[in-house]
Amino acid sequence: MNIILLGPPGAGKGTQAQRLVEAHGMRQLSTGDMLRAAVKAGTPVGLQAKAVMDRGELVSDEIVSALIGDELDAMGAGVGAIFDGYPRTAAQAESLDAILSSRGRKLDHVIELGVDEDALVERIIGRYTCANCGKGYHDTFEQPREPGTCDKCGSHEFKRRPDDNEETVRTRMAEYRAKTAPILPIYDARGIVARVNGMAEMDHVTAAIERIIAA
Ligand code: AP5
Repeated sequence: MNIILLGPPGAGKGTQAQRLVEAHGMRQLSTGDMLRAAVKAGTPVGLQAKAVMDRGELVSDEIVSALIGDELDAMGAGVGAIFDGYPRTAAQAESLDAILSSRGRKLDHVIELGVDEDALVERIIGRYTCANCGKGYHDTFEQPREPGTCDKCGSHEFKRRPDDNEETVRTRMAEYRAKTAPILPIYDARGIVARVNGMAEMDHVTAAIERIIAA
């Protein structure tokens, strides 16, 4: 199964993708994570992407589509893919069609997480992850069971993203409205879009997604 999780920054794409990975052994393909890894490693792609990401703008279509193609090639053919943060433009949606069909895959569902933008700013500014295993947390909505210790791996190191500040978040939201939301009609025309209330509690969002993929 191949699924796109679509929604503005902070809608819960990464959170729900991690849950699908744990429940179904699917693979999360997050272009944001791939780009952050490239920035950290100081690769040519990372050097090009860093300033763009820090401003909250979109990295070039060619770069992200190449990352997705490479990642799919590295996965087993029978493993399902969850596209998290990709595609984000009409050109990327077109590339994804070509990337999937050339690998004998097809899109099964596009799940749109509907959210209230003002609440998202609070979600994003409060979030952090385990520096060791990447598990996500939030100052208010999802704290570790034992303060300062990761539930999953026991690490005591946590980190926050440099683009998780209000000004950059507003730019990322404007980019979503201008370039990403307009790709939904492409998938609507194929009858594969399902809409989920991303403002509901995390477990309710997960349950709604499970119902969609089980149907
Ligand atoms: P990317 O990393 O993709 O960031 P994003 O789309 O801005 O999305 P986020 O990761 O911020 O949010 P999310 O929806 O995953 O929410 P999360 O689950 O963490 O992209 C970063 C940058 O990289 C872009 O700005 C761009 O520059 C570049 N880029 C990436 N892909 C690109 C592409 N394809 N093309 C071009 N450029 C690209 O949840 C947020 C918080 O809320 C968490 O703390 C979570 O615990 C909490 N939360 C989640 N769900 C709930 C809930 N239901 N109730 C309460 N709290 C919740």
